Amino acid sequence: DLPARVRIHEVGARDGLQNEKSMVPVEVKAEFIARLAAAGLQTVEATSFVHPKWVPQLADAEELLPRITGLREQYPGLRLPVLVPNERGLDRALAGGADEIAVFASATESFARRNLNRSMDEVMEMFRPVISRAGEAGVPVRGYLSMCFGDPWEGPVAPEQVVAAGVRLLELGCAELSLGDTIGVATAGQVTELLAAFGRAGVPMAQLAVHFHDTYGQALANTLAALRCGVTIVDSSAGGLGGCPYAKSATGNLATEDLVWMLHGLGIETGVDLAALVATSSWLAGELGRPSPSRAVQALAGS
Ligand code: HMG
Ligand code: MG
Repeated sequence: DLPARVRIHEVGARDGLQNEKSMVPVEVKAEFIARLAAAGLQTVEATSFVHPKWVPQLADAEELLPRITGLREQYPGLRLPVLVPNERGLDRALAGGADEIAVFASATESFARRNLNRSMDEVMEMFRPVISRAGEAGVPVRGYLSMCFGDPWEGPVAPEQVVAAGVRLLELGCAELSLGDTIGVATAGQVTELLAAFGRAGVPMAQLAVHFHDTYGQALANTLAALRCGVTIVDSSAGGLGGCPYAKSATGNLATEDLVWMLHGLGIETGVDLAALVATSSWLAGELGRPSPSRAVQALAGS
């Protein structure tokens, strides 16, 4: 059985742009986010309050937030979460008026070290005060878990290891858990297997999101497998932008346009105006100086 509606968690402005080599001006980022909201996306991850030296492209988070918070009045129900790795990041995000955050852990030791300069245990301890203070401030927290299917340094990752790390994030107080295929190696059978393992651990499918990168062209097939398991929250990136600078061989995320094409074809509601979204990604591709890798954008742009 497939769900009647899917909530798309749009990550283009964060996961997409964090990997861009040339600096994207803050005005362009703000316009991108405004256009995504206008196209009907209800969750638009905006930026990261990480160390500016680690992700220089998002060092303008303080300048960006005041330019987009007004969108929440214009589009009731619009959510603009931001990534936060530690208390310093939380302070910066709260000062900027963020009302929803995401922390990001790894299912593997190798990537925890490379992405956050910490062991897996240290990462969880770093998040503990972030999540509890966010709770006190009434700010919901999403938990990302990276390398859920394979890791460039460790190879395949056992479902039990992923479930153990995911359950820790939920126990710390994350309202939602996004399962990341950071390097895009998963295939549909693995997705079904991992979701079944979460089910056996008592985690409701309503709390899970899937986050696929499209390195091997499997992201849509993997998404369909997840929907069949009862997942209703899917992460994607407008135009297929993206990748993580600290994950060897990560390419773009599943393109939101490709996702919307499949979902609408299946009769699943998203609230997204595909033509407006394609126009947005085509405009951004012009700003970035190269075409969108999304197949749906290529097929629909100018049509
Ligand atoms: P560290 O070097 O261990 O930092 O990095 P530290 O805690 O030792 O602090 C060193 C200095 O940095 C201190 O300054 C801190 O104040 C400052 P000093 O006292 O020396 O003057 N500092 C900060 N400044 C601004 N904002 C902050 C901050 N934190 C510390 N938030 C750290 C640890 C977590 C900071 C670093 O590793 C980091 O920023 N990592 C972020 C990496 C990242 O953003 N990766 C991409 C996102 S994850 C992803 O893309 C995957 C995902 O899409 C899902 C998937 O696909 O799997 C989510
Ligand atoms: Mg990602």
